[in-house]
Amino acid sequence: MLSQKHKQKCEFGDFQTPDALAHQVVQTLKDLDIQPQSVIEPSCGQGAFIFAAANVFANSTQFIGVDINQAHLDILRSKIIAQNVTVPIKTICTSFFDVDWLNILNNLPEPILILGNPPWVTSAELGRLNSDNLPVKSNFMKINGLDALTGKSNFDISEWMLLQHLQWLQGRTGIVAMLCKTAVARKVLFYAWKHDKFIQQSRIYQIDALKYFKVTVDACLFIIEIGSIKPKACYFFEQLSAQKPSDTINYYDGRVIADLVNYKKWQHLRGADKNYIWRSGIKHDCSKVMELIKIGSVYQNGNGVIVSLEDNYIYPLLKSSDVANGRVSDCRKYVLITQQYIGEETNKIKEQAPKTWRYLQENAAALAKRSSSVYKKRPEFSIFGVGNYTFYPWKVAISGFYKKLSFYAVPRIKNYPVIFDDTVYFIPCSSEEEAHFIADLLNSSIAKMFFNSMIFWGNKRPITIDLLKQLNIQALARELNREDEYIYHIKKH
Ligand SMILES: C[S@@+](CC[C@H](N)C(=O)[O-])C[C@H]1O[C@@H](n2cnc3c(N)ncnc32)[C@H](O)[C@@H]1O
Repeated sequence: MLSQKHKQKCEFGDFQTPDALAHQVVQTLKDLDIQPQSVIEPSCGQGAFIFAAANVFANSTQFIGVDINQAHLDILRSKIIAQNVTVPIKTICTSFFDVDWLNILNNLPEPILILGNPPWVTSAELGRLNSDNLPVKSNFMKINGLDALTGKSNFDISEWMLLQHLQWLQGRTGIVAMLCKTAVARKVLFYAWKHDKFIQQSRIYQIDALKYFKVTVDACLFIIEIGSIKPKACYFFEQLSAQKPSDTINYYDGRVIADLVNYKKWQHLRGADKNYIWRSGIKHDCSKVMELIKIGSVYQNGNGVIVSLEDNYIYPLLKSSDVANGRVSDCRKYVLITQQYIGEETNKIKEQAPKTWRYLQENAAALAKRSSSVYKKRPEFSIFGVGNYTFYPWKVAISGFYKKLSFYAVPRIKNYPVIFDDTVYFIPCSSEEEAHFIADLLNSSIAKMFFNSMIFWGNKRPITIDLLKQLNIQALARELNREDEYIYHIKKH
């Protein structure tokens, strides 16, 4: 159970920036010859950045700090008095989402510097905390219905705020300089580049989040200078003090690219493969009931209850950790698969496997409690991510949970097709030969160079199904002089 204080800290992403880091950030801006006339810190907390900016940009005529927490603003005001700060600092206690920002901006001299450290919290975390510290519902990033249902609509509040900052400055002169997760900075760039926003220059400086915020997140200072030209490239610096960029992040071909040289080299391999389609594993959201350990001829569920069940609805289960470590020829767990396809009626289990039906009935309350809307208005005990592809005898699989580009040919276990959890991605195969062929192609150095050119390894989950789907396996087979084998296999697939 979270304490009230801890809950609030999470809900408001309340991690105040140490003064030393705020000073270093502002000094970096000064070294870039940034000279704002006004400075806004939109979730200023105790004002670390306002104070640092007031020191360094003494010629600025206006400083505005907004925060939802009055206690923070009281500390800020007492620091103004204690430090005898003479520049005009206005503070406003309200929610970011309720401020008439355009009215504020219209009255500010330019260039405007939007500076600070927005709350690092996601919409999913806020959902878990039952918090409404969120923008009014909008179909942010135009997420499709299925992604919204399966939780892919999760977004960082800071990402939403950064896009607002960017929007405010379109048609004005200004700079955004914010601490944020590096993945968030890349998403904002992707959006801005895709929508042709006016960005003259962008930079990402890595910061040590463990040192300053005691969190293990890939974080950065993200600087966007607004201007009339629109180069779609961002300089990447390894640290705040670095004078030269170590890398460039590019927008090319409709996506953010990590390694443009290799991307261009292998670009002809990009495209959907209509024969081999990547799938995600099963989603059931009730591991204590649905996942089982076999003990002799009976099973034990996650609550420690021993049950005797028929075999016809039980399949070997491999999780991300098994796949990532190449443990694919035997399983530690089994899983109850109640349907062969999405929406299939489950009441036939009653006749076909009475003990399994009784077990499901006994655990009906736990299964009914599953909050994801993918189970709503579906037959009782439904699962998600199931289809004929689930039951292919062989699969080529990769874990989406680990930072490792290794693909494994996965056989049936004890004559049953293997089921993966929903953090594993796989291609169904009809035979051992086909699975080894596909795994060989995907493990080739060319496939790795192709994927690596688009992977940002600092992301929490760098390997996504969207990434895997970018590679046309037939084009790869052709590149490796194995297209004949490809054609042979798809005929039997
Ligand atoms: C990561 S802290 C950063 C504080 C300050 N900018 C700094 O760098 O030290 C995030 C701040 O956002 C504030 N905050 C959270 N939700 C907010 C909202 N909806 N409107 C305004 N401020 C908010 C919190 O109170 C907290 O002070």
